[in-house]
Amino acid sequence: MRSQLKLVEGIPLSDAIVPHWKKIYNFQARPGDVLIATYPKSGTTWIQEIVDLIRHDADLEKCQRAPIFERIPFIELLYCMPPDAETVNAMPSPRFLKTHLPYELIPPSFWEHDCKVIYVARNAKDTATSCYHFDHIAVLHPEPGSWDQYLQRFMNGDVGWGAWYDHVKGFWEHKDKHNMLYLFFEDMKKNPDLEIRKVMQFLGKDLPDATVEKIAYHSSFNQMKKNPMANYSTFPKDMMDQSQQSFMRKGQVGDWKNLFTVIQNELFEEDYRRKMSQTTLKFHSSS
Ligand code: A3P
Repeated sequence: MRSQLKLVEGIPLSDAIVPHWKKIYNFQARPGDVLIATYPKSGTTWIQEIVDLIRHDADLEKCQRAPIFERIPFIELLYCMPPDAETVNAMPSPRFLKTHLPYELIPPSFWEHDCKVIYVARNAKDTATSCYHFDHIAVLHPEPGSWDQYLQRFMNGDVGWGAWYDHVKGFWEHKDKHNMLYLFFEDMKKNPDLEIRKVMQFLGKDLPDATVEKIAYHSSFNQMKKNPMANYSTFPKDMMDQSQQSFMRKGQVGDWKNLFTVIQNELFEEDYRRKMSQTTLKFHSSS
């Protein structure tokens, strides 16, 4: 059964999440908790794996203790699938958690405790491309329809977790007010070691060069694709059907060029310029 979207404070969320919204918004973060925040399909799992490797000094046995969605739970899903709220409450501090909520819907307790937030943004065209492919396999999302229809909905913000444009700008504009590290998927592709070092420093870790290399290697696309604890192959099949397409799909910058027509690209660019004209936030969308 496919989910439908329902509005919460003007943001479309899956109808599996909406009935539990009050409890989600009242999630009790604890001092020291670290929140990984992203728009969907922006490299969430990648940064989760990097963070877990850093936290455990690249000890592979520890990092393979459980699938990534259990190691770093997703707060929106705490009341509709495991790991549940009770399990997350019982996790020792500091906890590492994941969300796709836009800035204005982040549970206030994260800000009250000045929790660290790692935000990863990915360029709009690759994000839309990845979302479209993912929505074919993810039951928590409505059917994507044709690419043309989907792209229109993406541009209108009529997709799960709302408009990409508002999401990336929301965190960007508030980043200096909080304990926040703002990263880009494209930078992580270009120079993973450098971005891993930024995360390490942000988390207060000082690891030797050899460990950084090990983290870069084990969080690379090819390694994560093979790793059952990172590639979602253990996720319930009725929630994500990977028989047609893998969760770890391509992991590239510029794959949008295989999907956008020339006309779609022109319309998208024009709309993008309007929506992103008032921000200093800049993206690279080609490799
Ligand atoms: P594609 O669909 O473009 O391949 P999320 O974890 O936020 O759902 O993001 C998933 C996207 O990140 C997918 O993009 C996936 O392939 C990509 N990805 C996951 N791990 C990656 C890695 N180690 N390196 C590069 N891309 C990665």
